[in-house]
Amino acid sequence: MNEGIWDIHCHILPGIDDGSRNWDMTLQMIRQSWDAGVRTMIATPHYLPWRNRLKKETVLSLVEEANQKVRTELGIEMRILPGEELYYHNDLLKELEEGKALTMAGTRYVLVEFSEGAPYSEIRMAAERFRRSPWKLIIAHVERYGALRKNRNLDEILSMDVELQSNAEEMQRGMFDSTKRWLRKRYDAQDISYIGSDAHDPVKRPPLSDKSLKWFREHLDTEYRFMLFSGNHFGN
Ligand SMILES: [Fe+2]
Repeated sequence: MNEGIWDIHCHILPGIDDGSRNWDMTLQMIRQSWDAGVRTMIATPHYLPWRNRLKKETVLSLVEEANQKVRTELGIEMRILPGEELYYHNDLLKELEEGKALTMAGTRYVLVEFSEGAPYSEIRMAAERFRRSPWKLIIAHVERYGALRKNRNLDEILSMDVELQSNAEEMQRGMFDSTKRWLRKRYDAQDISYIGSDAHDPVKRPPLSDKSLKWFREHLDTEYRFMLFSGNHFGN
């Protein structure tokens, strides 16, 4: 089934973060995604304040090279778009303003992660700052943050013009797993706007697959699933 799935969170660019180590691995991950029905991938390498921040030009040129290689070496029409997974820190908005950090596929949407133990006050403050900025905040792998497991906090964040991304892989956990149960409620409420693989390699943290997409196909209504799979606001 070709639904033209989007993977908006993956670490497929080689040698730039803790994701793919070389072009062979990158092409393998892209091929796996293609076989699962993915047709657009936003490459989101880690942008971390405590390491040398990525050079925007490096990301853009690797994305260009990836697009060439999928055509010449894999013979497929996968579309790779540039992005970054931005680690939240005080200067992040300034760095976006200065054009140092990348948005998602050149839009005003930004994919932002926090430390797992981030207090709610920090996430709320970030949401407030983004609300007053030209950028629109997408919180990466929302299931990771203890502070957002409280319904009151999550509801407040959602009322602040924030969108949520979740890692599709999480729904393969056991039936009684607390993360899976929490996510299931969030999907039932249609609180999540994007799924991604957060793939780092072909096996341990793999790309989207028929297996990881199965739960979505079996449990979500068609319209909502289409929104999740089609990159939501990035989709055509
Ligand atoms: Fe990631």
